[in-house]
Amino acid sequence: MSKNIDWSTLGFGYVETDKRFVSEFKNGEWDEGKLTEDATITMSECACVLQYAQTVFEGLKAYRTEDGKVVCFRPDLNASRLADSAARLKMPVYPEDKFIDAVVETVKANLDWVPPYGSGATLYLRPYMYGKNAVIGVKPAEEYEFRVFCTPVGPYFKGGAKPITIRTTDFDRAAPHGTGHIKAGLNYAMSLYAIVDAHEKGFDENMYLDAATRTKVEETGGANFIFITKDGKLVTPKSDSILPSITRRSLMVVAEKYLGMEVEHREVYFDELKDFAECGLCGTAAVISPVGKIVDGDNVIEFPSGMEEMGPITKKLYDTLTGIQMGRIEAPEGWIKVISE
Ligand code: PLP
Ligand code: COI
Repeated sequence: MSKNIDWSTLGFGYVETDKRFVSEFKNGEWDEGKLTEDATITMSECACVLQYAQTVFEGLKAYRTEDGKVVCFRPDLNASRLADSAARLKMPVYPEDKFIDAVVETVKANLDWVPPYGSGATLYLRPYMYGKNAVIGVKPAEEYEFRVFCTPVGPYFKGGAKPITIRTTDFDRAAPHGTGHIKAGLNYAMSLYAIVDAHEKGFDENMYLDAATRTKVEETGGANFIFITKDGKLVTPKSDSILPSITRRSLMVVAEKYLGMEVEHREVYFDELKDFAECGLCGTAAVISPVGKIVDGDNVIEFPSGMEEMGPITKKLYDTLTGIQMGRIEAPEGWIKVISE
């Protein structure tokens, strides 16, 4: 039985659910892990995560399909990206098969929180890891926790599928030392100033440009970009300093194999944007959120798809991707992990 919640009005926020998974790393090894009802964490005032931000995380969703199953989408890619993020911050890797087991266990323990099919909401899962013991010299922790909690969510941007307005920014998203391509807490802390500033000035998000030349499109604070050319190609920025989005990698396959589109994964110059027909943000939280307008100082780019609705090709990509996730369209081999029949 689903919880008695008005799923259609849910935004992207935290709701405490029944159980979460926790595993501890001590004396060089991970324990078996267990579910707990305790949603709080107690730790040393000098924990490495608090002093030196040694924390990495992932984001994925569980969906209720048309025929009543509960599934998640490509969790193996989240497992391997978390491993890359952890290695970059000198944290022990959480075994990738155990990551998937932990996700499955967490969803199974909170099945009533998986929003109904067609409600517009999904169950967002947040696996994360942090350095827990006290560390005062600058060095990695020796003790860690890997956790997974879940929370039901609606659209990331208010207004749902309505196109948003973004601006370019001179702030840099990624933390120093080239960590932009991993999902580390510090990268997001570095984007907080810019997002508050953007909201205060009436924009929905920031477009980050490459730090070296400020001529190339990177990503936003929480999603990669996709562009559609006037002749119907999908173009998406390639950069070593953006997060390798699982949604973007999946959309490249969907465009080519399901919709017969040409796909270009390459450097994208800001100067090219005026020639594109459609623009969108893609990510687990963002799904595909259409962008109607990009403001770069006095230069305003208004995409022909306008501010009222998603462009027609973006819509086809959206319908096909969500169709695969919700079981309406057959998925490529290995993309869907069934959690409950
Ligand atoms: N870029 C950033 C900075 C993100 O936080 C996210 C969200 O995870 C994405 C891109 C999209 O990645 P994914 O599609 O794997 O969720
Ligand atoms: C996700 O899409 O999972 C993210 O981590 C983005 C975040 C801004 C919510």
